[in-house]
Amino acid sequence: MKKQFIVLIAASVLLAACAKDVYNPDICFQETILPIFVNNCAQSDCHNPADHKAGYDLTTYEGIMKGIRSKHPMLSDCYTTVRGNNPSMPRRPYSKLSALQVTDIKVWIDMGAPNTSNCKSCDTSNFTFSGRVNPIIQAWCIGCHSPTNAGGGYDLTTYAGIVTTITRQRLMGSLEHLSGFSAMPKNTDAINSCDVAAIRKWVESGYPEN
Ligand code: HEC
Repeated sequence: MKKQFIVLIAASVLLAACAKDVYNPDICFQETILPIFVNNCAQSDCHNPADHKAGYDLTTYEGIMKGIRSKHPMLSDCYTTVRGNNPSMPRRPYSKLSALQVTDIKVWIDMGAPNTSNCKSCDTSNFTFSGRVNPIIQAWCIGCHSPTNAGGGYDLTTYAGIVTTITRQRLMGSLEHLSGFSAMPKNTDAINSCDVAAIRKWVESGYPEN
């Protein structure tokens, strides 16, 4: 009896682990998957609307779906090229995706690659630099705003670099896609309005390094 019980527990733990890999409600196309491609694959001369290397523009859902076979990650170029120890994409000098990003893409394909957005309820009460603002900027912006590839001269990998865009009055206008600014993230739609509102609150509170 005891033995059967242990087997049962082991089986349910295994099942739970597998289920987690196939469905994760926190993985949203707009907030999780799109920034991975825009930030790591759409730099100039890569997979953006103007250059669309190898026929791929990876800045929209339709463009990304050209390299996805829903529910079949191993038949999806947008997964097979970025997975493993020595992935062929992104090309040097850009760094390979993190293990978490690769897993998120796989799980999203397993889930049927839905075009989802706003999966979490909007919370603008958290607008600290470390808890909210910086994770958004690291997810969406640093592929084109690093020390070696500083779009417009802006390096957003550090707090000081982010502050420069604010003191020069360039950050909010570009995030809100206002005229007179380069719309950011470049080549794609504005990021979720809840995230923009949280960044605005942080800027208006004096952009503390909190
Ligand atoms: C795919 C590459 C790319 C991504 C992703 C990207 N940028 Fe940019 N960014 C650029 C380039 C290149 C420029 C220089 C101006 C231009 O070519 O539009 C620029 C310019 C800017 C400017 C100056 C705009 C102005 O009008 O003076 C700001 C501010 C900025 N980016 C912030 C961001 C933020 C914040 C994000 C993330 C939400 C982001 N960028 C994501 C490539 C990118």
